[in-house]
This record gives sequence, structure tokens and C-alpha cells, in this order.
Amino acid sequence: MTEYVAVTADTPLARTGAIKLHGPDGFAGMRRAGRLAAEILDALVPHVVSGVTTAELDDIVREMTLAGGGVPATLGYRGYTHSCCISINHVVCHGIPSERTLKDGDIVNIDVTPMVDGWHGDTSRMYLVGDVALKAKRLVDVTYESLMLGIAQARPGNYLGDISHAIQTHAEKHRFGVVRDFCGHGLGQVFHDAPEVVHVGRPKTGPMLKPGMFFTIEPMINIGRPDVKLLDDGWTAVTRDRSLSAQFEHSIGITEDGCEIFTTSPKGLDRPPYAA
Ligand code: MF3
Ligand code: CO
Ligand code: CO
Repeated sequence: MTEYVAVTADTPLARTGAIKLHGPDGFAGMRRAGRLAAEILDALVPHVVSGVTTAELDDIVREMTLAGGGVPATLGYRGYTHSCCISINHVVCHGIPSERTLKDGDIVNIDVTPMVDGWHGDTSRMYLVGDVALKAKRLVDVTYESLMLGIAQARPGNYLGDISHAIQTHAEKHRFGVVRDFCGHGLGQVFHDAPEVVHVGRPKTGPMLKPGMFFTIEPMINIGRPDVKLLDDGWTAVTRDRSLSAQFEHSIGITEDGCEIFTTSPKGLDRPPYAA
């Protein structure tokens, strides 16, 4: 039932539902896009401080993306007019940059997607502003661990369900809720492509992983219930119970014997704390 298509020079870019299997050119393109994405998140570290507005951070993302030879894929995407998403505290994802200032104790996700030579690097990390409560730090740690345990399942012959299951098991062991309403996604020359990468599931279910598959894994984990609610702006998703939510995202490619993470931090700043 799952359809796969080997990408060649004449493969249509369109989203057909088939899972694209990319070759060396795709890996090269994703390495460039993923690296710029990770460098942008690295560069934001000293700027994510109490008092900064999220609009100011968005400006930095846009300028760095353009300076790095990319374009923010979110600019103009389905009517979205910003260069990144910034989701604070109980915001699950797709927070819109605004005049809101960060304050001591906030936990903040910044999600960037530079498109470089047509390839998309999609990644997000959590940032801690000042002194953050222990419970919130534990949420951030468990969310990062869940992502990496999912990535550890990413190899040929395994299934997407193996990734989902690893994420869900770890998060729920800590009594956190895994968001169902948003998922990871295939990507490449298309921003959001097949397959859907859900973050809860059973082992050995879903599409089998094959070399050349590119997709994101981006679990959203809540201290409370998994349920989300969309605000009237049509974008901002928040936890229904107003509990804190965290997310990390990497873009990966399946290789012959495992996977390559395209969005690893060149500076080792993949997770907080970022300062010594
Ligand atoms: N970067 C998000 C993702 O991980 C998508 C943001 S789309 C936007 O898929 F329009 F909300 F910016
Ligand atoms: Co994504
Ligand atoms: Co993203």
C-alpha cells in the first residue's frame, strides 16, 4: 500500500502521497539546508533573553537565512508572514512572532525552515530564559530524549511505528502527554511531504523505512494532557489544559545502515543548557 518513488531528475516535485527515495544529490542538498538551519538556531542563543520581543528574534532569523543564501520557507506559506515560529510555555507550536517580550522563567521553542537551493532544512530547539522551574526543565529534557530515542530507531528495515513507539514510551514513562494533532513529515524539495510522522504508535506499523527517505521527527510533549486548541489567529496551538509544552525537531535522511541527521548543531548546542 505504501508507495515509494526513486527520485530522479524528472521526478515531479508535487506531493503525490508516494514516499520519495532520494539519492546523493538530495543528501548534498539537505546537508546544506540543514546546516544553515542549525547555524541559525546556534546564533540565536545569546539573543533569547528576558526582554527581547519574538518579532526581534524573527528579524534575526530572516536576516541570517537570507545572508546564508536561503529563504525562510514559512514566509508566505499558506498565508503565514513570518520567518520562523516561536512558541512560548503553553504554546504547543506555530506561535507567531509578535511584540511579546520574553520573561524570566519562559521556555521557548524556535522553529526555523530555511530553503537553500530548493532544499528544506527544518529544525527546532527549546531555549530557557533565565531561571526555569525544575519541572519545566525536566519536560524539556524528556522531550529531547524522546526525539533522540526516536531517531535511534531510524534505520532501513525498521518502521515509522518503531520511531513513534520509542517517543511515546519515553514521554509517557514520565507521565507527560504526547500531542496527537501535529506530526513530523517528509521533506526535501517540498516543505511538507509524505509520509506523516506521528509521535505515538505501535512497533512494526506504518511504512517501512528505506534508504533515501527524508523526514522530520518533531515531538510535542505536554506536562499535562495531549489535547490542543487552536487560537483565533488560525495558527497558534496551545495546550487545552494550559500546561507547559516542549518540542525539538530534526530533519533526517535514512542511509544504508542507519540515518543522517541534517540539522545537528555545529557548535554542540542541540539542547539546553547552552551556557557553560
Ligand atoms: N516548521 C514547522 C514544521 O516543523 C512548520 C511551520 S509552518 C508555519 O513543520 F507556517 F506555521 F510557519
Ligand atoms: Co517540520
Ligand atoms: Co519545523
